[in-house]
Amino acid sequence: MVTVALLAAACQTEPQPVAADPAEAVMANILSRKSVRSYTADTIPAAVMENLLRAAMAAPSGRNIQPWSFVVLNDTSRYDEIFGDNHNMSMFKQSAVVVVICGDTTVVRPPRDNPDAPAVQQPSGTWRDDMGAVTENLLLAVEAYGLGACWTACYPYLDRMAPVKQALGLPATVVPYSVVPIGYPAGDEQPKDKWDPSRIHYGRW
Ligand SMILES: Cc1cc2nc3c(=O)[nH]c(=O)nc-3n(C[C@H](O)[C@H](O)[C@H](O)COP(=O)(O)O)c2cc1C
Repeated sequence: MVTVALLAAACQTEPQPVAADPAEAVMANILSRKSVRSYTADTIPAAVMENLLRAAMAAPSGRNIQPWSFVVLNDTSRYDEIFGDNHNMSMFKQSAVVVVICGDTTVVRPPRDNPDAPAVQQPSGTWRDDMGAVTENLLLAVEAYGLGACWTACYPYLDRMAPVKQALGLPATVVPYSVVPIGYPAGDEQPKDKWDPSRIHYGRW
């Protein structure tokens, strides 16, 4: 979170209060994240937007493949074409920015059983996991900047993915995984307390 504080300072925005103890700051960030579904009309400074995406791209990925790409949208006149009858449309249209997080389902590398052979395009085993990590990283950075966002599913719903894929011209192997509207919160959403010690098993189930 020290890093987030530095990034915030670097782009001349109002940094969120940062605890002196980095561990405390990180815990505060994670525990205060919540889905925000209503937004003010305020726009997001370009430098903040870049930092959000920088944080997203810092996510872990299997074999460090980094299968993600982002399509950043703010022209609401295109949303009917892009999102069809997605039930989250009112959220999308109210937000300052919608980020479509896309994942490549393939990876180009030498066959696993023959590392010296030329690289070939093959299915990626971990792209879904990687996409979850990148989406959560984005949400945590959103929280750090006092913004609000909501993870909305696109993959694996064909009816949601089809118009997005078509309207945004995604390559054949790339799928729109999640759609994240971002803006300054209009309401007062609070984080949910999900701590449940009964979910933890020590040694064995
Ligand atoms: C894979 C996934 C898909 C989701 N899809 C939607 C969605 O389509 N619309 C929506 O309003 N929220 C969606 N959410 C947000 C969840 O409803 C929310 O995370 C959950 O209720 C817990 O609340 P919290 O995020 O405030 O902790 C989705 C979350 C995840 C992880």
